[in-house]
Amino acid sequence: MIPQSFIQDLLNHVDIVDVIEHLLPLKKAGTNYIACCPFHGEKTPSFTVSQSKQFYHCFGCGAHGSAISFMMEYGGMDFVEAINDLAARFGMQVPAQRLLEKSGINGLRGSEDGTGDSLQELFRAIDVVTKFYREQLKYSGHAIAYLKERGLTGETAARFAIGYAPTGWQNLATVFPDYQAKILLDIGVVIESEDGKRYDRFRDRIVFPILNQRGKIVGFGGRILKQGEPKYLNSPETQLFEKGRELYNLFAARRAIREAGLVIVVEGYMDVVALSQNGIEHVVATLGTATTPYHVQKLLRQTDNVVFCFDGDHAGRKAAWRALENSLIQIADGKNISFLFLPEGEDPDSYIREFGREIFEGLLKQALPLSVFLFKELSSRVDLQTSEGRAKLVEDTKPLLAQINAPFFGLMLLKRLAELSGISQRDLESLLKIKHTPSLRFRERTLRPRPISPCYWLIQILLYDPTYVSRLDRALFVDCGENIQEIETLRALTEFITTHSHVTASTSIPSAITYFHDSPYCALLEKAGSATLVWDKDIDLEAEFTGALVLLQEIQRKQRMAELHSRSLSTLTFEEKYELQQLTIFPKKRS
Ligand code: UTP
Ligand code: MN
Repeated sequence: MIPQSFIQDLLNHVDIVDVIEHLLPLKKAGTNYIACCPFHGEKTPSFTVSQSKQFYHCFGCGAHGSAISFMMEYGGMDFVEAINDLAARFGMQVPAQRLLEKSGINGLRGSEDGTGDSLQELFRAIDVVTKFYREQLKYSGHAIAYLKERGLTGETAARFAIGYAPTGWQNLATVFPDYQAKILLDIGVVIESEDGKRYDRFRDRIVFPILNQRGKIVGFGGRILKQGEPKYLNSPETQLFEKGRELYNLFAARRAIREAGLVIVVEGYMDVVALSQNGIEHVVATLGTATTPYHVQKLLRQTDNVVFCFDGDHAGRKAAWRALENSLIQIADGKNISFLFLPEGEDPDSYIREFGREIFEGLLKQALPLSVFLFKELSSRVDLQTSEGRAKLVEDTKPLLAQINAPFFGLMLLKRLAELSGISQRDLESLLKIKHTPSLRFRERTLRPRPISPCYWLIQILLYDPTYVSRLDRALFVDCGENIQEIETLRALTEFITTHSHVTASTSIPSAITYFHDSPYCALLEKAGSATLVWDKDIDLEAEFTGALVLLQEIQRKQRMAELHSRSLSTLTFEEKYELQQLTIFPKKRS
């Protein structure tokens, strides 16, 4: 947990005016500073920053907060990321972060002996590699010719820091005197074979540096110049790089996304680069993975409108469906997600080069809203002329509807399903066990989406009934922070357990939210708590509790397995091998 004292210390160092000014031009107005609010559209400034009080407030939309919340709201960061970002500006070390890295809680596996390289060193090393590749591009005629042939200007290549990894096996030895250094493995640029021989991962490839949300390089995508497999080779997952969370070009596109009020999500590096060269800057790409809910969450923090742009072929439709499935849980009322399918055989890169910006933008307007794509796809799988087909449609829609947390959107989908299936909305509600309440919430337990985070789930249970605290122990959570997102939740949970350890059935306690009102977890707890407002009075809390613990165990089991799998078999002790076998066959028994 990041100690409160550190956060206070940090906020004392930071000047909110500096922080905001960096991202948003401010004008002095009396003792305060003003600007047009970045959180809602307006022509006259009502966004006010107070230097003396160190907070911002918008008189138009009510946005309000500290330097940390500004980085979260405007920068799209989560709490821990925002703290890290601000701390880094002052060279401050986030204390708990260091501990957590060592214990592996945040998924950034630290070295066991504590002699591993710090994140700062990793970033520095990967910068050296990037510089080397960029330098090499200048001397490589055939790589330059390749990029030219693909229509890239030198300016674009420079803007994306595109480089070239030369042929040969150990080129990086020329920039790293110690080619055996652990750090080269840690940043994923060398591969070590079974017999301990090392060689460069990227050879004779165009390399696209991948930046994280803070503008730091965390990995590379490498394209082969001619034919060959794989066409793109990406950095492996490292302490710095998690594919399911990063989006190519998000850092550079932030401003353009805000200005356009829209982000376009494409599939390839070259699609991003080509669109950008043609003046469409509000574009990002996933990195050779399906779109994850984290991607969607990240994007929806930046803008209300997301357009996924896919190829018109079968693979494109399949990828789009995956993106749809992974978006549902993130949709809130007021957010729009839509899908654009390009003509068969085209991708955004080829399309914009052939038809230009205006026609591409025209096409964007024809993107299918998620609701339309959803029913179009599901209807195409059945014969709506038959009762069987219509029944199947209802059946297929059910699990998707269950994931939707946006009440109005959910209701609109239900109405559309009623039209298509010919079953009345009322019948559908009882069939799908949806209660049409004034809040329009889906209340039926089986329809409530199971939280993806066991810690979040447990927080909800504790907020609903704090006496469950006596059945939880902080030790349970020692290694459950799978990812950065989870850390904040985990911290909120352990904080809750610590501060409420005295609670018993007979203690009357003020609402937990009141208790946490000035804690950094307040927003998280409020959100978790508000979701429990729709829990039925006769909710089976015991089943929820067990469910959350089972989920927790499952995640811990997978993590431990991954940890053991990541080591070569010969280094495992006999006990570890046995443990791995047991983990593979049986989920861990709770003692
Ligand atoms: P595509 O195969 O659609 O290629 O992969 P592309 O983007 O059109 O690439 P060009 O135009 O031939 O250069 C789309 C994305 O999928 C990932 C990469 O991120 C790529 O940009 N991918 C593809 C891989 O990770 N590995 C591969 O072997 C292929
Ligand atoms: Mn392409």
